[in-house]
Amino acid sequence: MCGIVGYIGKGETLPILIDSLGKLEYRGYDSAGVAFIDGDELTVVKRKGRLSVLADELTASGRMARGGVHVGVGHTRWATHGAPSDENSHPHLSNSGRIAVVHNGIIENFSELRAYLISLGYVFRSDTDTEVISHLVEHHYTGREKGNLLQSVLETIQEIEGTYALGVVCSDSPDLFVAARKDSPLVIGLGSDGNFIASDIPALLQHTREVIIMEDREVAEIRSNGVRLFDALGHGIQRQPIHIDWDVDAAEKGGYEHFMIKEIHEEPKAVRDTISPRIRDGRIVLPELPWTREQLEACDMIHIIACGTAYHAGMVGKYLFEHLCRIPVSVDVASEFRYRDPIVTDRSIAIIISQSGETLDTLVAMRVAREKGATCIGIVNVVGSSIAREADHVVYTHAGPEIAVASTKAYNTQLAALYLLPLHAAECMGRLPEDRDRQCVDALLSIPGKLDSVLLEKESIQRFASLHFNAKSIFFIGRGLDYALSMEASLKLKEISYIHSEAYPGGELKHGTIALIEEGTLVVCPMTQPALLDKMLGNVREVKARGATVLGLVSGTSNRPQEVCDALFQLPEVDAMFAPILAVTPAQLFAYYIAVYKGCDVDKPRNLAKSVTVE
Ligand code: G6P
Repeated sequence: MCGIVGYIGKGETLPILIDSLGKLEYRGYDSAGVAFIDGDELTVVKRKGRLSVLADELTASGRMARGGVHVGVGHTRWATHGAPSDENSHPHLSNSGRIAVVHNGIIENFSELRAYLISLGYVFRSDTDTEVISHLVEHHYTGREKGNLLQSVLETIQEIEGTYALGVVCSDSPDLFVAARKDSPLVIGLGSDGNFIASDIPALLQHTREVIIMEDREVAEIRSNGVRLFDALGHGIQRQPIHIDWDVDAAEKGGYEHFMIKEIHEEPKAVRDTISPRIRDGRIVLPELPWTREQLEACDMIHIIACGTAYHAGMVGKYLFEHLCRIPVSVDVASEFRYRDPIVTDRSIAIIISQSGETLDTLVAMRVAREKGATCIGIVNVVGSSIAREADHVVYTHAGPEIAVASTKAYNTQLAALYLLPLHAAECMGRLPEDRDRQCVDALLSIPGKLDSVLLEKESIQRFASLHFNAKSIFFIGRGLDYALSMEASLKLKEISYIHSEAYPGGELKHGTIALIEEGTLVVCPMTQPALLDKMLGNVREVKARGATVLGLVSGTSNRPQEVCDALFQLPEVDAMFAPILAVTPAQLFAYYIAVYKGCDVDKPRNLAKSVTVE
């Protein structure tokens, strides 16, 4: 949530900040602002609305073109405390106007701190939790004979509780700014003409590939010719930068109208990149996972923990682990796992799924599982992210940067990993007959090619979307793996098209929700599981009898679905166990085209953010 950037150096700060914020807009986009030092004056410009509103204002006022600014911080917001408004936008100034702060995270003790600061005479201008930081830094800054920004930030972070990534500038110190982090991501970029901070690496790639990843409770003093890193007590830390070698183009639209459709087209490659290095001579090779037959046989429970789309991938993972390894699996939404006092032992394995590796609930749920003794395995896309660093073992998905807020290719690659892991575990446990193992590996290897074929059929999905984009409500029903898939298909649709949608197990709809089906209601029915086809056809007839229009998503050769559905999308022939990784793509395309027909902002849907670093 929220993106922060900072720059100090010989370059022109405002265009650099605005450009870098543009790469972080997926983190929040209800307001944006910058603070910069011009001569010895600290100026803040911030506006409710998209980043373009702020950029237009800086251009119209001539500020952007005038140049001569060499230090500043910027912010793009996803509101938590206080509605989106100019006042609540970051940066937040201290009362003297000398200190400005940008913040990502939540200060949990802000009410107490606010009361304390008010008792000292500080005046608050916003409803945000962040404003306490500006005043606290100022309080410590003015409390000493000669103001010291670094020391003031170090003292401030001793007093704030919660999560933060911070960028702090002070008009007395135009030669530096200070950054700090706890539980909200922050990286430092080392450039040839200056140095940077950003919430995420893509914001820096145009300027540098040398990056230092800040750890929790670290503070950095950034100057144009160097960076000093400290622990929370102010002791110096040495850390070598890492070199980022992904292509900056991967974070550009490359001729597609939206990131989302570009990312859907990248699915075959993303899945191939995730699986092919891990299959050798027909066997799964996962050196990342040193699990043994003994450990797997002793395992009392696998806990799969994730949020959003990653949670839906986890639902598929449950079926696969239970089916292939016969180990009981629980799948939890991370924010529930944290607080439900789960039964976890040192014989448990926790599988933590996260595209960003920074989702706060997921990160903290992993810590809970770990404290209780579980071995934690991360399935993570972003290299070096918090979950990747803290997990005992990491299996990276190789989806590349995912920019659209609605997750697509990351889901397919999470599923790819969730085939690799249980197949590998089943191989280790000697549970998979040789010929079935070979069939599964072959099926997995064939997925990228089949995804290519699905994408060739996108026009038929588009046509169907063109007929239904005015729907008020769309239901998805499925059984087994098709139910897990339905959950994701429904989420995708509501996220970007704002059409009300629900997903139900085929057998459950009749226990209440069928009351909502009326003449013309669209019901999408994935039917990729031959063993459940008869039951599903029964459910299709139930909704048809109440007037529903039914779109079937089918694989296999049976023409029975054709007899009951109003329209069909035919998937390439695939082993039923592997159907979700193929069937999700038409569901994503369906959501995409519906949102496009409705004129929605596909890549930046309202109220959402890609990386949720608040509880
Ligand atoms: C947000 C995003 C979702 C994503 C979820 C989990 O809600 O909008 O697309 O699935 O976070 O994110 P993660 O990075 O942990 O997979």
